Amino acid sequence: MATLLSKKKKDETLKDFLPLEGTDFIEFYVGNAKQAAHYYQSAFGFEPLAYAGPETGIKEKVSYALRQNKITFVFSTALHASHDIAAHVHLHGDGVKTIALRVANAETAWNETTKRGARSYLETTRLQDNYGELVMSGIHLYGETIHLFIERENYNGAFMPGYTAWNPTYQGSPTGLLYVDHCVANVGWNQMNRWVDFYEEVMGFRNILSFDDKDISTEYSALMSKVMSNGNGYVKFPINEPAEGKKKSQVEEYLDFYQGEGVQHIAMATHDIIKTVSQLQQRGIEFLKVPDSYYKDLLSRVGNIDEQLEPLQELGILVDRDDEGYLLQIFTKPVEDRPTLFFEIIQRKGAQSFGKGNFKALFEAIEREQEARGNL
Ligand code: FE2
Repeated sequence: MATLLSKKKKDETLKDFLPLEGTDFIEFYVGNAKQAAHYYQSAFGFEPLAYAGPETGIKEKVSYALRQNKITFVFSTALHASHDIAAHVHLHGDGVKTIALRVANAETAWNETTKRGARSYLETTRLQDNYGELVMSGIHLYGETIHLFIERENYNGAFMPGYTAWNPTYQGSPTGLLYVDHCVANVGWNQMNRWVDFYEEVMGFRNILSFDDKDISTEYSALMSKVMSNGNGYVKFPINEPAEGKKKSQVEEYLDFYQGEGVQHIAMATHDIIKTVSQLQQRGIEFLKVPDSYYKDLLSRVGNIDEQLEPLQELGILVDRDDEGYLLQIFTKPVEDRPTLFFEIIQRKGAQSFGKGNFKALFEAIEREQEARGNL
């Protein structure tokens, strides 16, 4: 009976009532958007795209939009202490507020998700300027995070109404980052399945992979994770929750410092991870390091790969293989002072998984950092 029910449920979720065209942008609420924008230009190689602030008629906040290939980041700061962004930064530190998803119809996206139980953040709103019309709507997620649905087929401006094209003298030069591969949430104890259900029932996503605490544990700490994907696979959200271990889970450390649930990491894809990571390291991005012993039996674990072992080891790039191919990946240290948000750089060579074979080495590296912070 359970099987029949779950099959029926599966069939229902396969009808894609929420077709997504990918990640439109990710907005970060930060303490100083001007400086954050410079860091993402100079260190990560994003290029200036658009600006909104008092000069463009926005009185309460400033925002800088940056782009590298298909990745658009927006950094926003409040101009006054009473603004929501100021409260968000006070509580969480710098972090992700919005994962905006591109849709053909923002009104339908809002209707379909709210009727299935999503809590509305923004009813369908039509923004117009000389460049056309952009339609958006939004729903609440875990913690204070939101999804915005962005419909921009009839909009030709730099980014969106309220913004002006931004073309400063200083321009970042790209590092080969192409698109958002996946975006990971950390949720509280026993909350993972609640958010799995949310993505299945409200957003029509499927659970494509699950890891229990036996897959993701070291001697000291553990977590559980389930990966949710939309129908066409363009949008993937792994969801982590802490699990009991001898010491504090890295997810718990995040929850303590973010003061709640939120985005843990954003994975950005490249076609040449050695080149991308070399440039990022030269520009000061710090990555987690695994011990040299990781590389000793790497090829016997993953088989033949196109890359030379030496630069991978030098840069600290990890490799994992699944049935469909292999992938190369590396993780930055947190990019703000709180041990919260970090980035992953990933190159997929067939593999559609998430580097399960690297979890242990990786989490041991994270624990060394946790221990140095006194939080293990
Ligand atoms: Fe990841």
